[in-house]
Amino acid sequence: LNEKPEAVLGLATGSTPLGLYAELARLCAAGELSFAKCTTFNLDEYIGLDGTHDQSYRYFMNKNLFEKVDVRMEATHVPSGAVKSDEEAEQYDAQIKAAGGIDLQLLGIGNNGHIGFNEPADTFVYGCHIVNLTQSTIQANRRFFDSEDDVPRQAISLGIGSIMNARRILLLATGADKAEAIRNAVYGDINPRTQASILRTHSNVIFLLDKAAAGLL
Ligand code: GLP
Repeated sequence: LNEKPEAVLGLATGSTPLGLYAELARLCAAGELSFAKCTTFNLDEYIGLDGTHDQSYRYFMNKNLFEKVDVRMEATHVPSGAVKSDEEAEQYDAQIKAAGGIDLQLLGIGNNGHIGFNEPADTFVYGCHIVNLTQSTIQANRRFFDSEDDVPRQAISLGIGSIMNARRILLLATGADKAEAIRNAVYGDINPRTQASILRTHSNVIFLLDKAAAGLL
């Protein structure tokens, strides 16, 4: 943001970036950073949750970052949990393109190697699309909901192509739960069973790991 105030940022949710968002909010409050000219696009959202639901990713972003920094709310984008088809979902890719493309894409990683909500599959999906969540992801996200029945079964996510189009990618991972996914992403075959493995073919990607997440490297 200091180098390019009008940057287009690709943002992620999950517990992993919370420390980063707190630090960005601190820097912004201290006058060392400004989001005033940037545009943001989030990776994903649950289907069926609107932005006022406390487990929606829009709500998460508002609470954990947007309301704490000087970003223009109208310049923040989170995919709509109300979309009904992949054709509708792809309009989000068009919005990103119209904004000039993502300069820096922030990513976490799922226990099963997913990025965004691109779950292990037989293929990589290019564009923004509707995803059926796997049982392992539903279980992993169960802790945020009253019961497993309340966890949405579907999400809208940027596709692998939408992510790979970013000029730079920064993937964060912490904790031993991520060690296997990180090993598969870094040393395994480049294969849609571990969606993050494709990142190795990007020319400007950084994996930033704590010791536990890097434990199997
Ligand atoms: C979620 C999100 C991902 C996130 C991942 C890991 O399902 N869709 O974007 O990277 O899970 O979450 P956490 O950082 O809480 O481990």
